[in-house]
This record gives sequence, structure tokens and C-alpha cells, in this order.
Amino acid sequence: MELIWIVLLLIPVILLALYLKPLPKKSIKGKHVVIIGGSSGIGKSTAILAVKLGAHVTVIARNIEKLEETQQLLKTHSVNEDQVINKLSVDVCNYEDLENNLSELEMVVGPIYMLVNCAGMAICGNVEDFSLQQIKQLVDINFLGSLYSVKAIVPKFKQRREGIIVLTGSQVSLMGMYGYSIYSSVKFALRGLAESLYMEVKPFNISVTLALPPDTDTPGFESENKTKPIETKLISEVGGLVDPEVVAQKLMDDALTGKFFSYVGFESFILTTLCTGMSPFNRMIDVVFESALLGLLRIISAFYISSFASIIQKCHIDKEAVSKKK
Ligand SMILES: NC(=O)c1ccc[n+]([C@@H]2O[C@H](COP(=O)([O-])OP(=O)(O)OC[C@H]3O[C@@H](n4cnc5c(N)ncnc54)[C@H](OP(=O)(O)O)[C@@H]3O)[C@@H](O)[C@H]2O)c1
Ligand SMILES: *[C@@H]1O[C@H](CO)[C@@H](O)[C@H](O)[C@H]1NC(C)=O
Ligand SMILES: *[C@@H]1O[C@H](CO)[C@@H](O)[C@H](O)[C@H]1NC(C)=O
Ligand SMILES: *[C@@H]1O[C@H](CO)[C@@H](O)[C@H](O)[C@H]1NC(C)=O
Repeated sequence: MELIWIVLLLIPVILLALYLKPLPKKSIKGKHVVIIGGSSGIGKSTAILAVKLGAHVTVIARNIEKLEETQQLLKTHSVNEDQVINKLSVDVCNYEDLENNLSELEMVVGPIYMLVNCAGMAICGNVEDFSLQQIKQLVDINFLGSLYSVKAIVPKFKQRREGIIVLTGSQVSLMGMYGYSIYSSVKFALRGLAESLYMEVKPFNISVTLALPPDTDTPGFESENKTKPIETKLISEVGGLVDPEVVAQKLMDDALTGKFFSYVGFESFILTTLCTGMSPFNRMIDVVFESALLGLLRIISAFYISSFASIIQKCHIDKEAVSKKK
């Protein structure tokens, strides 16, 4: 009889041990890592990490002064003398320039082993308030830029039978949010891209990771913050801000262990688990834990959704009252 209890107790302990067992991690020491959007925010923190891990690093962005500043900063983090720290000014939305520059870069620095695309931006507002030019800008940088960088790098990675690709989505890649109609749509699109790409490149020994950062303390966030409607502010202010170094560390760890989603913090864990859907998985044990949590998490989600709805409704009533006074 006692033996049964011991066995019953052992099962969850064994499952937990399997779940917590770390995945094998790839090394980027001496490898060439390219970071698009590497001159600011999350990309810049990721570039610093790559340098600290001994990689040859190339940062890509448009503004040359910011690139030069970043290059100097990266050099101070070098861990060995022969480390190459490079910069390139290219608009990732210009496919031809991007492809040609990447090919030339490989001839100079060597084959690219890891490509991280962090270039992106958010503008908030109600859907009718966006100019067509703003809509195009958001689609171009957040979606086409990522697609172009993938299209340019995949043939090279496939030929070499190795490579790591990281795309940067957002929490709103998984859920819609007031004020994010345009940004959220294009960040959702990245999930479709990443999931499909994952299947296409896996046989070629290439991994795909989709980073889903929460609100992160970056120059990009500062300008996004200025465009937020009151509803968006009230809903998102409870979350607080994460440091870009924390997001970058998680992004790097998850990319090097080949995880599909990379997220930070408890709320992101809830959201990502809730939205796992048909996404790729590393180990069956992860799927077991996710499926055990899913039902409960859906109930928890109802509380969040209701609280968002009541914030939005309250703002709506306030606005109606103001417009009636006028
Ligand atoms: N910060 C957040 O709270 C947050 C949350 C979720 C997701 N994200 C996502 O995380 C990524 C990084 O965000 P961040 O806040 O770190 O942004 P950031 O501080 O504004 O940095 C963006 C970087 O991308 C570059 N870039 C922008 N447009 C480009 C283009 N057309 N071609 C090449 N480079 C370009 C910028 O340099 P130039 O302007 O000089 O080109 C800069 O280096 C974005 O995809 C963003 O959507 C951010
Ligand atoms: C690299 O990009 C720059 C700027 O977009 C462009 O002027 C240049 O022609 C490109 N280099 C190559 C080799 O195509
Ligand atoms: C897969 O890529 C890794 C490096 O990312 C390499 O060490 C390994 O040899 C590759 N495996 C195959 C089968 O090509
Ligand atoms: C965002 O904007 C609000 C005011 O609208 C301000 O109180 C807050 O400090 C800003 N946060 C950041 C990180 O810029």
C-alpha cells in the first residue's frame, strides 16, 4: 500500500525534474551574429550580449551616428582581440540593398550564423485616426522588414545546413489590444511567418525563435508611449516596464536553446501558454505542462478581459459626458 503512495508522489517529482532540465545550448563564440535594429533598445542590448559571448557582431540600422556610437560601445565589451565589431547602414525595408549588403558583409566578415531582427516600431491610436502613410510605415518596418531579412538569409543558412533566426513580435502578437489595431495586426502576421518558416527550415538544421517582449524601457517605447490613447495607458500601466537587458538575455538564451517563443515574466508566461495553439514545441514534457494549465488559464483570462472592458467602457462614458457638455 505504501509503495503506491511513494510511486504516486514520485511521478510529479519526476515530471517536474524533466520539465526543469535545461536544454542543450549552442555557442556563438567566434561565430558571426547580425543584429538588425541593433543600434537601440532591445537590439542594442542583444548585440552587447553577443559580443560578451565572443561572437563577431554586425549591427544594422539606418542612422549612421547611432550606429557609430553603438559600435564604440560594443568594442568596450569585447572579450578577445580578434573579435570583429561591424556596422552597416541599411534600410531593412529595401530588399535589394539588404540582400546585397548581407552578401558583401559575408565576404568581408564571414558567414552569418545568427540573424536577429529587432527593427520595429509602434504607433498607437484608434483605427480611423491613422494616416495611410502611418499604416504603410508600420506594415513596412514590422512585417516586410522581417520578411525581407528572412528571405535574404534563408538560402545562405540552408546551403550551410546551420543557422539561428530570431524575429521580434510582441505581446500583441498573441492578443489584440485597444489602440494597437495596426501594430497588433502586423505583429500577429509575424507569428504566421515564424511558424511556417520553422517548418520549412527545420530539416536544414536552422532554428526559428519569435521573441514576444513585454513593455520594455527603450527609446522605441518612449515614442510609442506618447501616442497611447488614455484607454491603452490605463490598461498597460499595471504591467510596468522591463529593462532591455532582461529581454535580450532571455531572447539569447531561448534562441541558443532553439525555443520557439521567447517571453519574459509571469504575465507573458500566462499569455504565451494560453496561446500555444499549433505552435512548435521542443519537448513533450512542455506540452504536458501547457495542456495541464490551459483550462485554468482561460478562466484567468476572463478576469483580465473583463477588467480591460470595464476600463474602456468607463473611458467611453467619460468621453460621451465631455462631448455632451460641449
Ligand atoms: N520596447 C517595447 O516595449 C517593445 C515591446 C514589444 C515589442 N517590441 C519590439 O521590439 C523591437 C525593438 O524595439 P525597441 O523598443 O528596442 O526599438 P527602438 O529602441 O526604437 O530600436 C529600433 C531599432 O531598429 C532600427 N530600425 C528602425 N527602422 C529600421 C529600418 N527601416 N531599417 C533598419 N533598421 C531600422 C532603429 O535604428 P534606425 O532608426 O537608425 O534605423 C533601432 O536601431 C521592435 O520590433 C518592437 O516592435 C518592443
Ligand atoms: C548597401 O546599402 C546601401 C544603403 O542602403 C546602398 O547604398 C549600397 O549600394 C548597398 N551595398 C551594396 C553592395 O549593394
Ligand atoms: C547543426 O548545426 C549545429 C550548429 O548550429 C552544428 O554544430 C551541427 O553540426 C549541425 N548538424 C548537422 C546535422 O548539420
Ligand atoms: C508614458 O506617458 C505617461 C504620460 O502620458 C507618463 O506619465 C509616463 O511616465 C510615460 N512613461 C514612459 C516610460 O515614458
